[in-house]
Amino acid sequence: MICIPVTSHKNKEALRVIARSISHADFIELRMDLIGDGNLAELISAVRRQSASVKVIITCRKKEEATRGEISAAPARVPVITAKEKMALLKEAVTLGADFIDIELAEGKRAIHEIQSLCAESHGKTKVIISYHNLKETPRFAKLKAIFNQCAKFEPAVVKIITTARNADDNLVTLNLIPLARRHSRDIIAFCMGDKGLLSRAVAPFLGSYLSFAALEKEGQSAPGQFTVREMKTIRKLFGDKQRDPLPSTSSLQRSTPQNFVLLGNPVGHSLSPLMHNTALKKMGINEHYTAFCVDDICRAVEGIRGMNIRGASVTIPFKETVMQYLDDIDDDALALGAVNTILNNNGRLTGCNTDWLGLVLTLKKAMTIKNKIFAVIGAGGTARAAVFGILKEGGIPVIFNRTSEKGKKLAEEFNISFHPFSGIKKFKAECLINTTSVGMSPRTDKAPVKPSAHAGYKYVMDVIYNPLKTKLLTDAEKQGCRILSGLDMFVHQGAEQLRLWTGKEPPRALMKKVIFKRLTAK
Ligand code: ATR
Repeated sequence: MICIPVTSHKNKEALRVIARSISHADFIELRMDLIGDGNLAELISAVRRQSASVKVIITCRKKEEATRGEISAAPARVPVITAKEKMALLKEAVTLGADFIDIELAEGKRAIHEIQSLCAESHGKTKVIISYHNLKETPRFAKLKAIFNQCAKFEPAVVKIITTARNADDNLVTLNLIPLARRHSRDIIAFCMGDKGLLSRAVAPFLGSYLSFAALEKEGQSAPGQFTVREMKTIRKLFGDKQRDPLPSTSSLQRSTPQNFVLLGNPVGHSLSPLMHNTALKKMGINEHYTAFCVDDICRAVEGIRGMNIRGASVTIPFKETVMQYLDDIDDDALALGAVNTILNNNGRLTGCNTDWLGLVLTLKKAMTIKNKIFAVIGAGGTARAAVFGILKEGGIPVIFNRTSEKGKKLAEEFNISFHPFSGIKKFKAECLINTTSVGMSPRTDKAPVKPSAHAGYKYVMDVIYNPLKTKLLTDAEKQGCRILSGLDMFVHQGAEQLRLWTGKEPPRALMKKVIFKRLTAK
């Protein structure tokens, strides 16, 4: 449900905004602290006259409660409302039959009880929203939970908790309040303000937030980061317009299964995983979404997965190893490999798995036999680990070539395989040479980890890089007569295996490959 705030500084203008908003809104919030000469009776009756269904929320913030944008936008002639005047105005709103009164938790017990008893006299016609705004930051979840409990104690119709996102993780922390409120059978509005909070504004309705604030147009924003009505509608369309009911019945809560998927990494801006996974989910008829989160604090992000009951997560650079300590279980393969790229949520119990090695093995297997064949692996990082693990599992013989001997030797010792200095690649002979480093990845596509003349001893050359589809390494190898394998198949298979783990269904691998291929070859 969309709530359009009316923040005009003049009553006349506010009436015009109401007229233009009425057909787009489920709620209209009259910001009486900003509408300088606001005539409450006239404004409420203007809404009633134009719509029988649009609900009216009356809000009157103290100057220190209003966001910085509102204060600077408010002309000097908008009078500062005293506490007494504010209470009088809220009481008048109840008398005039407003649907909701928004009162800050900070107003204190006495004021809240006073408004509540007046509302009780209206026989439930006017309801109370108890709100908390933090204009500086997003406190830790434990603190937000305590604030939620404080608000909930008053038994309001809706709790509203709005924080300011200082980094992307804050979105997950505040959004956590929505499932918490649902578990308490309480309606809630929760999201983060600010540019870094856009994600929570977009996602909150789909988790069951009671309503979303949207400005009629950019100039009418009542808080930083607020979407316009048009933007909010586009988001809904993108998400398939399947918002959760604000408050399900207790029985359906008990049945509630985890939903939706996330990617946790940093950076994630250029990730093609959302495109690939969302395409697959749609084709599989699963009405859930995959969203990328740029994470700073992986511990908080994992808290978010639990709190929001997220069904599954992909984990990417740089968290594949650090995430392990925050999970409940690690499956045998991920444990042996030493990295997690997939999280599975099973009734709140989080299990770490790894599909990177499977992605690589499935790609190799399609082209060649792995068993008893030698594979020269370039690199000694997380991807090299996945390659070594997968090849060993299939009975192949991996050997490590790495720029830094110390790191390469360490990995080789761990898996009891041999290590060779980088300079030995040219003279070595093996079934396949596999690059697991990022050398040659877009935008530095003119680079290759080895010289063009180094491919002579290899039947196949594979690059784990999929952007570009044909790296310089592969172009050089092809010229030398080697058969080449791009990283695209590995990327698709590791993603498909994630979907299989999360949903138990076989994903449309060909379609996933097609959509990524199309994106990578689009000019
Ligand atoms: P990932 O987890 O994706 O494998 P990583 O842990 O950063 O990434 O590992 C990257 C690997 O690429 C490392 O083994 C690195 O070699 P060093 O151990 O010598 O650092 C290798 N690598 C990165 N840049 C390289 C380059 N220009 N030439 C050769 N190897 C390189």
